[in-house]
Amino acid sequence: MNPIYDKLQRCFVAVREKTDFEPKVALVLGSGLGAYGGHIEIEDILDYREIEGFPVSTVSGHAGRFIFGYVGQVPVVCMQGRVHYYEGYEMSDVVLPIRLMKMMGADTLVLTNAAGGIRQGFRGGSLMLITGQIASFVPSPLRGPNIEEFGVRFPDMGQIYDLDLQRTAKRAAMKFDIDLKEGIYIQLPGPQYESPQEIAMCRTLGADAVGMSTACEAIAARHMQMRVLGISCITNMASGITPFTLSHEEVQRTADHVAEQFEALITEIILTIKDERFL
Ligand code: HPA
Repeated sequence: MNPIYDKLQRCFVAVREKTDFEPKVALVLGSGLGAYGGHIEIEDILDYREIEGFPVSTVSGHAGRFIFGYVGQVPVVCMQGRVHYYEGYEMSDVVLPIRLMKMMGADTLVLTNAAGGIRQGFRGGSLMLITGQIASFVPSPLRGPNIEEFGVRFPDMGQIYDLDLQRTAKRAAMKFDIDLKEGIYIQLPGPQYESPQEIAMCRTLGADAVGMSTACEAIAARHMQMRVLGISCITNMASGITPFTLSHEEVQRTADHVAEQFEALITEIILTIKDERFL
């Protein structure tokens, strides 16, 4: 038996002892974006601590719980707080919650994060639709024996971010007059913010925004054939682009400022996902 799958099954049993809620959409809220929980008609809340073996986030601004409930008619599970590789967890633990949400029934994954802006024209407060990613600087979440129950050994990553969901996001942004940027997200291990030289490297590689999460989760999700959407909140311009010192407080402050726009966008996207299903 695969120990990673074993642990997941134990976590799944623990979840099912608390709730039989079956989500269709899984939503991961990034740093400072956790307030979205207020938009969900809540059915159940499950603290990560109540699930034995579940990796618990240590970062301030990350609440650390699953919220189960409805956005309109759409059953969602929402992660208020995620775990990061830099906290010391194995990549298999970092993506455990994603796999668990798929086991609960979610087949669409909406990933959000706070990120540093690299591309000219971005500014603190911009929202960016993730169209592609670079994950080569962190270990693969699929390393180790393949979990055949989830997917194949060598999964294709040709189109990680679903094109239909991207169109849905762009239409939702137009409806609310939100200037939704588009770009490539690069995941670096952190926890230190990058040096200006590293940001120059990221730019050369074609990255438009940098962060410490998301790409590994998207890989695990695609391994399981989930449809993935990613949206970054550009909370600051990346190192060396502006003369300001980077801090977690600034990241949270900016995320708070765009929360309203961001929340409108996410709600509209989820409602449209529901409409698509009934076409
Ligand atoms: N770099 C990496 N991660 C981040 C940043 C950044 O500038 N801002 C928010 N998350």
